[in-house]
Amino acid sequence: MRTLAVMIATLVSLTLLAGGTVQAAEDKQLFEFYCAQCHGLTGKGDGPNVTKDFKTDPRNFTSVADMEKLSDADIKNVVMDGGAAVSKSELMPPWGKTIAEADVDKLVAYVRKFCKCKAKGK
Ligand code: HEC
Repeated sequence: MRTLAVMIATLVSLTLLAGGTVQAAEDKQLFEFYCAQCHGLTGKGDGPNVTKDFKTDPRNFTSVADMEKLSDADIKNVVMDGGAAVSKSELMPPWGKTIAEADVDKLVAYVRKFCKCKAKGK
């Protein structure tokens, strides 16, 4: 856990040093802090939390086939209310009480970038 914190701190300062916009750093920071332990730093659903006894694999955000089925509103819903609320795995936690809605919107856009695909209905 400490290694992860150091890694995140390093990544954040590198991004800032590289002159990345504050906006971009924020998206990445949010994702790496709240989501990457399951969904993986590169969004493939292979984060360090995912062990053999994990019943459902976290969504692979680089899968066009899976991500094209979701509209941006679908992604927002599942992030706010959790997997169980949309009849998916309860292993996907609800974040609506933890993450501000404006930040959830940033995460939706960030998650979408991994598949480089269009949202359903767009
Ligand atoms: C504790 C592990 C865990 C964490 C942390 C986590 N997820 Fe998930 N997530 C999952 C699992 C497992 C699924 C697959 C659910 C299913 O297919 O039934 C999933 C599915 C999803 C999906 C696809 C839902 C769908 O309807 O197909 C999205 C989008 C998503 N997660 C976004 C996020 C975001 C954004 C964060 C960070 C705020 C996050 N997740 C954090 C475990 C996690």
